[in-house]
Amino acid sequence: MYERVLRQTLFRLGGGDPEVGHEKALDALTVLSGLPPAIALLRRQFGIDSPRTVFGVRFPSPVGLAAGVDKNGVALRAWPAMGFGFVEVGTVTRYAQPGNPRPRLFRLPTSRAIVNRMGFNNDGADVLAARLRALGPVGVPLGVSIGKSRATPVEEAVDDYLHSVRVLGPHADYFAVNVSSPNTPGLRSLQDRGALDRILGALRGEAGPTPLLVKIAPDLTDRAIGEVLEVCAERAVDGLIATNTTTARDGVALRDAVAAREAGGLSGQPLAERARRVVGFVHREAPDLPIVGVGGITTVEDALRMFDAGASLVQLYTGFVYGGPPLVRAINRAVVGH
Ligand code: FNR
Repeated sequence: MYERVLRQTLFRLGGGDPEVGHEKALDALTVLSGLPPAIALLRRQFGIDSPRTVFGVRFPSPVGLAAGVDKNGVALRAWPAMGFGFVEVGTVTRYAQPGNPRPRLFRLPTSRAIVNRMGFNNDGADVLAARLRALGPVGVPLGVSIGKSRATPVEEAVDDYLHSVRVLGPHADYFAVNVSSPNTPGLRSLQDRGALDRILGALRGEAGPTPLLVKIAPDLTDRAIGEVLEVCAERAVDGLIATNTTTARDGVALRDAVAAREAGGLSGQPLAERARRVVGFVHREAPDLPIVGVGGITTVEDALRMFDAGASLVQLYTGFVYGGPPLVRAINRAVVGH
C-alpha cells in the first residue's frame, strides 16, 4: 500500500526530481509535526515500545532515523510518531552553507539505492540550536551529527567541531562526529590517527558527560578501522556509528548504471553486506564498544542481521525512502524480544 500509493506519489513530485520529492515530503512532515492530533493518530499506527539503554541513554526503540534526512531538525515530532526510537539531526556545520550544486541526489530504484553528493547543505549550528531550544524535548533521544564547513581548511577542522558542540551541547543526547562523508573534500582524512586524535581530544573535553560517537566510512581497510578503534579507546569515545555511504559501486543493478556513474556516496541495498561486515569486525575487535549499525537496511531481515552482527541500535535512511513507516513498524515488531 505505502509503496504503491504514497511512495509513487512522492517519487513523482517535482517532475520526478528526487530532491524536490524529499523537500515536499519534509514540508508535509513539518506541518504534521505541529499538529498534535495528527501526531497522536500516527503514533497509534506506528508507535511502539521496545526500550533499551545504550551508552547510558534510554531508547524507546532501537530503530533510529539516520543523519541527513532531517538535517535542520524541522520535523522532529513526526519521526517518533512513525516509530523511530531516536533521531539524528545534521550533519550540521559551524557555518550555514548551500551544499553542492543541483542535481546532487539520484535514485537507483531497481537496486533500492541512492547516490548523493549533497555536501552538508544546512542552516548552521547556531540556527539549529535556536530551533531546538524553541522546540523543547522531542520525547526520544536526539543525536546531533557534526561536521566541518566546506570553507574551513582541514587543518582548522577542530574549531568547527568545537563550536558546534558548544552551542548544541544543551540539546544533544549524543554527538555523532562525522568524519566519513565523501562529499566534503578532505573530510575523510580526519579518520587518520593523528587528526582523529586531535579532534576527539578537544571534543571529549568540551562535550562533558554527553556521549560522543564517531561515524566511519565503509571504505576503510580493517587496519584503518583498527586505528580508529585505538583512538576511540584512548579518548573514551562512547560508541561507533557504522557506516556512512560508500564511494564503491558494487552490487548496483544494470538498470541503475547511469545514476551509479554520478559522483557521490552510494547508500541502500548494495551497501548492506559491507556495512554489516564492518559492524561485525568492530564488534570482534572492541566487544564492549556500543555500535549503531547503519547501511542498506531495507528489510526486516537486514535489520535483524545487523543486530546479530553486533549492533545495539540501527538507523535507516534509504530503506525508509523505499519502505516508509511500515518498514519501521515491521522492524520494531521483529526486534521486540530479539
Ligand atoms: C546521507 N547520510 C548522511 N550521513 C551523515 O552522517 N550526515 C549527513 O548529513 C548525511 N546525509 C545524507 C544524505 C543523503 C541523501 C543520504 C542518502 C545519506 C548517510 C546516512 O546517514 C547513512 O549513513 C547511509 O545512507 C547508509 O544508510 P542507508 O541509507 O543505506 O540506510
